[in-house]
Amino acid sequence: MRSSWGSFGACGVALTLCCVMPLCGCSREHTNADSATLSISCGALGVELKLCTEGVRRWEQRTGHRVQIVSTPNSSTDRLALYLQVLASGSSDLDVLQIDVVWPGILASHFIDLTPYLGDAPREMFPALVENDTVDGRLVAAPWFTDAGVLYYRADLLKAYGFDPPTTWEELTHEAQTIQDEERAKGHQGLWGFVWQGKPYEGLTCNALEWVASFGGSILADDGSVTVDGPKARAALEMAAGWVGTISPPGVLQYDEEAARGVFQTGNAVFMRNWPYAWALAQSGDSPVRGRVGVVALPRGPGEAGRHVGTLGGWQLAVSRYSKHPELAADLVRFLTSPEEQKRRAIEGAYNPTIVSLYRDPEVLEANPFFGKLFDAFAHAVARPSGIVGPQYNRVSNAFWRATHDVLAGTEPADERLGALAQELRRLRARARW
Ligand code: GLC
Repeated sequence: MRSSWGSFGACGVALTLCCVMPLCGCSREHTNADSATLSISCGALGVELKLCTEGVRRWEQRTGHRVQIVSTPNSSTDRLALYLQVLASGSSDLDVLQIDVVWPGILASHFIDLTPYLGDAPREMFPALVENDTVDGRLVAAPWFTDAGVLYYRADLLKAYGFDPPTTWEELTHEAQTIQDEERAKGHQGLWGFVWQGKPYEGLTCNALEWVASFGGSILADDGSVTVDGPKARAALEMAAGWVGTISPPGVLQYDEEAARGVFQTGNAVFMRNWPYAWALAQSGDSPVRGRVGVVALPRGPGEAGRHVGTLGGWQLAVSRYSKHPELAADLVRFLTSPEEQKRRAIEGAYNPTIVSLYRDPEVLEANPFFGKLFDAFAHAVARPSGIVGPQYNRVSNAFWRATHDVLAGTEPADERLGALAQELRRLRARARW
């Protein structure tokens, strides 16, 4: 069974009813006295929904229970708005929710503590993720897959022009511009140098944090003070603004993950910033760039402070405290986050496991050679400041991506816009006391 959020995209986030109705409409019939019907929300990026459905079907076969799969909007920002509406109403319509790594602090009060249900499983997972999902001593979600931003490149094009994969942004800009110019002169008019996620939403926060941190800057310091108006953050955003309309299409300011992948996978970009899931799709049977793609760590910024940075992303499974079947729902989470399922998802969909030992599994590494090579990038990805600001994270991120988008669009110079952003964040900090 599958239902979807139907008209969500069309009705936007402000209007509750038309978005939630498809959910309310899902009747939760029981097939017999012993069998319950649960519902789980799954992402639908690339092959995500298919992998989720297959995992859920296995659990159904093992337990005899049924699960309704609800697909949610691809945009993390839209999905959060929707969850907030559903959870605030205390609705029992969603038992298991797929939540972003930056949301435990925002949503914790709506979820049960999974500790009694998961046994020793969390000990096998990256400790930083388990810590991330633990709020006030309660394990409010189980890490399902992890993410870090990486750089995809067209190995065939780089080779043809005698370039190595870039290690600095300066090299990337030069290689992208050179190949774009030369290839266009040869008739490939639609080719762009570099595509990424520039739409004003959570994905832009991830991209921009990578630029800023790769220069040695930050949004907030570890003690919570606001640092986003520093010279490094400014230089990083000015660099990215310089790409728009030169090596990146003007439309990049409305690209999300799938839009960037669409351009890259059809052979129309030299470089792409994206998450690991794009690997399995770029390598799939019908992909025009199959066998011509490489993956490396994102380039570093200039000078001594420059470093390679990927933003930590990833998704967790949580059980709603409004669920009528919390124990069954927790069992579904236990199964979906098990080594068996995580291995299958890694091999079929390039979803990075949260279980450390799977990075030594030969079959996982054969399907995703860059998992081994970039292990450090995954293990030490830079976190968004959700741990510092907790429930305020969405406000902070929203302010950051809006300011970044203005700078990229050239609406206001970087120093002025970042100054205004810093003031906004300082006011918020004074009110929220993070
Ligand atoms: C990916 C990441 C997630 C992030 C989102 C932004 O889904 O896993 O953590 O928030 O992209 O678009």
